[in-house]
Amino acid sequence: MVTKLKYDVKDLSLASVGKKRIEWAAKDMPVLKLISERFEKEKPFKGLKISSCLHVTTETANLMITLKKGGADVALCASNPLSTQDDVAASLVKDYGIKVFAIKGEDNKTYYSHIEAAIDHKPNITMDDGADVISSIHKKWGSIDFNIMGGTEETTTGVIRLRAMVKDKALKYPVIAVNDSMTKHMFDNRYGTGQSTIDGILRATNILLCGKKVVVCGYGWCGRGVSLRAKGLGADVIVTEVDEVKALEAVMDGYRVMSMDEAAKIGDVFITVTGNINVIDERHFKNMKDGAIVCNSGHFNVEINIPALKKISSSKKMVRDFVEEYKIGNKKIYLLADGRLVNLSAAEGHPASVMDMSFANQSLACEYIVKNHNKLENKVYVISETIDREIAKLKLKSMGIKIDKLTEEQKKYLASWQEGT
Ligand code: ADE
Repeated sequence: MVTKLKYDVKDLSLASVGKKRIEWAAKDMPVLKLISERFEKEKPFKGLKISSCLHVTTETANLMITLKKGGADVALCASNPLSTQDDVAASLVKDYGIKVFAIKGEDNKTYYSHIEAAIDHKPNITMDDGADVISSIHKKWGSIDFNIMGGTEETTTGVIRLRAMVKDKALKYPVIAVNDSMTKHMFDNRYGTGQSTIDGILRATNILLCGKKVVVCGYGWCGRGVSLRAKGLGADVIVTEVDEVKALEAVMDGYRVMSMDEAAKIGDVFITVTGNINVIDERHFKNMKDGAIVCNSGHFNVEINIPALKKISSSKKMVRDFVEEYKIGNKKIYLLADGRLVNLSAAEGHPASVMDMSFANQSLACEYIVKNHNKLENKVYVISETIDREIAKLKLKSMGIKIDKLTEEQKKYLASWQEGT
């Protein structure tokens, strides 16, 4: 008897559009392709189940296909209720036989029922973007028998949650912090978020960015990227920070740095990328100019205090897709994508070329778990520098870029402490 594939997607008839888009993204994922070809031969995940909770995009589809080629039985649920690309979800089910549980715009109850479906898959490896699957599994720990070798985590917010679990001695299996690979955060967080956040804002609003005062809240890797791209389009970029070193870096990178209270009064567009809560709060909304646009590109929709915005507004209405107008007195404030990741809600997330490296890290992290889980403790690990550098090497090669090698003389010089002037 053939068992029916389990899934919950919007509409399977969208599959043909999704397939073309998945193949389009694949063209820009040469490093993942090399890994996929090797996995197809070596089958490192034969007999294993992987449950992934990631943004359901064309790039994620290529990762799922890679894992399946490696022999895994894969289930995928969304890591955000608004980021699912329904055509991609349909194609993964119909064309690639992958169990997908994700519908764009799903409510909270459905979102968590889809996470449950991924857990019911009984994974040997979990793959998270924001730690929702791993934290749901930990809430059930003891009441259900799990057989998990390890997990991976894609994003800064998820890694912060995991490190908190380690501190509380709560983590029950080892996790690889993919985010902490150099070939992940230095590129995906900076250039990926930089470009896709601006893309999301422009697709949602079609505003002209040059001449606008763009307030970037947070100057981590994502904030650096967003600031750089906004500046490149001619915006007057203002950075807000709580970390003195990052604030100083922003000043020396050429931006104005000020408190959020000051910035609130003058900003035209506000973008949060801090990973923290209520960064834009009630008093900031009260001080904002008429027409201010507010959005978030951090993982969770907590950075903008939306309940406070609702409380002080007399009315709200949708004025364009992903643009909600809030009326406070005679003033209007525009909230994009319900405060969810604007780059994945109003646009398509990071381009494939950058996700190529992130998902090469994810694939190799899974393989590492299979090979090494017996030696690992219940801790958060970072991928070895050798693997990280290999990914960079392969990416450079795919771009046709050659670099220099140290000569024997240079190696000797670097290794010696006796040499001086
Ligand atoms: N995170 C940011 N952009 C993404 C993308 N295109 N696919 C999956 N996860 C992402």
